[in-house]
Order: sequence, then structure tokens, then C-alpha cells
Amino acid sequence: KKLQINLNKIEKGKYKYFMLKEVYEQSKTISDTLRGRLLIPEKIICIDGIESHKEIFVNAESITIVACGTSWHASLIGEYLLEELTRIRVEVEYASEFRYRNPVIGKKNIIIVISQSGETADTLAALKLAKKKGAFVFGICNVVGSTIARSVDAGAYTHAGPEISVASTKAFTAQITVLVLLALIIGKYRYAIDDNRYKFLCEELGAIPEKVNYVLKMNDTIKKISQLYHNVNNFIYLGRGINFPVALEGALKLKEISYIHAEGYPAAEMKHGPIALIDENMPVVIIATKKGCYDKIIGNIQEIKARKGKVIAIVNKGDIQVNLLADHVIEIPNTDEILSPLITVIPLQLFAYQIAFSRGKNVDQPRNLAKSVTVE
Ligand code: G6P
Repeated sequence: KKLQINLNKIEKGKYKYFMLKEVYEQSKTISDTLRGRLLIPEKIICIDGIESHKEIFVNAESITIVACGTSWHASLIGEYLLEELTRIRVEVEYASEFRYRNPVIGKKNIIIVISQSGETADTLAALKLAKKKGAFVFGICNVVGSTIARSVDAGAYTHAGPEISVASTKAFTAQITVLVLLALIIGKYRYAIDDNRYKFLCEELGAIPEKVNYVLKMNDTIKKISQLYHNVNNFIYLGRGINFPVALEGALKLKEISYIHAEGYPAAEMKHGPIALIDENMPVVIIATKKGCYDKIIGNIQEIKARKGKVIAIVNKGDIQVNLLADHVIEIPNTDEILSPLITVIPLQLFAYQIAFSRGKNVDQPRNLAKSVTVE
């Protein structure tokens, strides 16, 4: 046991918790996911599991992505990415729901299963059902040789390295990175992406690890903000478009490790319910980067401020409008909207960490949760 504890200490290095270490590794892990798959000068993407089944992807009628937890949030981001860049219709389902209904799928449908551990019972059962119905199943897993990785027709590993903290962070950004690569390569095969846009996105993707490093430097600012809010009981997280699932993921991170109730919503849905909750005690974390209905987001922030809510906004460097309205801003670098979740999620991971840490919680091993859920 003593040896185990010492090993843990060594592996964590200067970090108090694995979660923080894993958050900080993300610049490297995203590079690892891209290595050998994205050749930036040539703008070539190669993923063996796709190349060897090119026809299936070119002719697919639809894609259904199935997963649980954080991997389900990555799947929602995948829906935006794949529909936008490949023009194939995409649906996302919780594995636990998918497996117990009678989904309409067959040979012309692709099922993508996403799982960090590759062992989640519901995801594995969904995979087996999809295969039984004749669908082609593609896996995105982190753990090499895991049950799901061995059971799919083809797949791509995320290469994020071992993730120890129960709250998933680097596996999430690695999953999104694989989904971006998938969307770009399938979109190219199907002639669904304009050549210039394809080239631009390849370049931008290559620049993401550096931008992630920049965001990590915001940790002190994020820590200061978190100290003002670690005693509240509720949080709302808002985002739009491809950043709506990021709002869900931000809220999930906070719930998992700090035990504060948090809800993620698409910003425009605020008026259909959550706005009733807003008063001077309600902090709202809002992703307000320069793209994706920026003006509408400004409107949402004004509505929150009119009800005395507190606004913590994720903005692009140099933003002026949100700066004037929000109580706190966290500045992040600009990128193409479709790649922005890789950047916008980082401050939310750090925020959840800092709040849980201030509340004295065991960040790596939150109560009642398991890293890998191998039972129903
Ligand atoms: C558990 C973990 C989550 C994870 C989910 C799905 O609930 O605590 O962090 O997102 O399972 O796990 P998977 O390994 O399939 O991605």
C-alpha cells in the first residue's frame, strides 16, 4: 500500500490532484491525438479505420453516436461537427436508452460508440445491439485493448494516455479532436467541404495545442473568481451552437467534483424556464465567444444582469461588449467556431477544479462516482 501511495505521489508530480495534472496535459494530449494523423504542411489527414472503410462512410445514410456521461457530451459536439462538415444526418443517444428500445438502424447506418474506458456496460450493450442489426460500428476509445475497442468493426484511439481522475478532462478533448479529424476526412471524401475551408481548418487544428497552453495560463484569474463563488448552492451554464454541449460539460464537471447543483442550457432556452431562477444569488457561466450568435448572447447577459444575476463570461481576447456587462470575464484565444469547444471547455474544467478544491473535496475520487461503470 505504501508503495502504491508513493507511486501516486510521483505520478502526480507537482500537482495536488490527478485532475489538475490531466487538465494541464491537454496541450500535449491533443498533439498526441493529432500525431501521425494530421500532416499540417500537406493538409493530409489519415485515419486507418476510416480509410479502409471509405465506401461505408461515403455512402452512409446516417450516423448515430452512442455514449454515456462526458463521452455523451463529446458526442453532441460530434453531431455539430459531422453534420456541418460531412452533411450526413447525425443523431446522438444515451447508450442506456438506445439499448432498450428498438432503434431503426441497418446496413446503411453507421454507429459511432465513444468511451474513454472502453468498458462502460451500457455502451457495450448498445454496440452489440447495433451489430446485431447489421450496422457498421466505429469506436472512439482511450484505453487500448479495452472490450469496446476489441468489439467494433473499426475505430480510432484517442491516445490521451491514462486518465486517473474520475472526472474526465483530457479524454474529452481527445475525443473531440478525433471527431474533428473524422468530420474533416469524411467531409473531404464526400466533397462536402470547400477546399479552402478544409485547408484552413487543418491549419487551425494544428494551432489548437498552443492556444490550449494560453488558456491554462488563466488559472490564477479563474482561481480568484472561484473563491467568490465556492459557497453558492446553484449554478447555471449557458452556451449556444457547438458550445451548448460545452455548457453541459461545464455543469457536469462542477456537479461531479464540488457537489454544487449546476444546470447546462442552450442560452436561448433560458427564457423557457431557467430565467425564473435568476436573482442576486444565481451565478451564470456563459460562453460568449465572438462567433455563434454573439449578439444574442449579449442579449442573454443583459437579461441576467437586469435580474441582478452574476455573470462569469468566457470571451475572446480583446472583447469589449461583454467586458462592460459581465461581472467577470475569462479571456481565451480566438479560433474557428467549429474548433472552439477544444478551447472553451478548458476554463470550465479549471473553474470546477478550483471550486471543488476550495470546498475541500477529494477532487479525484468524488463520492458515489466510479471511473468506469461496468454494471447497469
Ligand atoms: C462514468 C465516469 C465519467 C464518464 C462516463 C462514461 O460516469 O465517471 O467520467 O464520462 O462514465 O465513461 P466512458 O469510459 O464510457 O467514457
